[in-house]
Amino acid sequence: MKIFLIGFMGCGKSTMGRKLARQLQFDFVDLDKQIEQETGMGIVDYFGLHGEDKFRQLERDILQKTDFSANEVIATGGGTPCYFDNMVWMNQHGQTVYLSMDPKALANRLINSKSERPLIKGLNYDQLLNFITLKLGSREAFYHQARFIVSAADLTAEKLAGYLNSSSA
Ligand code: S3P
Repeated sequence: MKIFLIGFMGCGKSTMGRKLARQLQFDFVDLDKQIEQETGMGIVDYFGLHGEDKFRQLERDILQKTDFSANEVIATGGGTPCYFDNMVWMNQHGQTVYLSMDPKALANRLINSKSERPLIKGLNYDQLLNFITLKLGSREAFYHQARFIVSAADLTAEKLAGYLNSSSA
């Protein structure tokens, strides 16, 4: 089974993905890291050099052309489900899980890791909270197409593995 974790920046997709993969004894891949490996540059540098449109095309190509293993947890980027047919594609190729979190919790988590994220680099706390509120509002229609919607706030890998197992029984 392929499991795609989706959700806003800072909701914990990579951390949860790594733990979930360990729990299920699945492989794990972080889509952003895969992009960095294939381009040989960081996401911030890629955005700076080529712009967001090119990034989104590359993100789609890497999502849809990577040969994921049969049992793999894939942590996607926050924007991945919201461009092209990526959300439909993920629903066709595996289980999708939306890790939901409210804007304030996201802002509190993101305030210390803005520099590695081109869309929020340089924002102060109020600007960040405002950006998250607006962006999340425009992305939720995509995120809500996930097969599973779970609150990320008090989630553990054990709990998540339990939801996934009980639904496929
Ligand atoms: C983005 C989220 C980032 C990364 C890029 C764009 C977004 O991934 O793909 O900076 O549009 O929300 P994370 O969600 O892993 O931070």
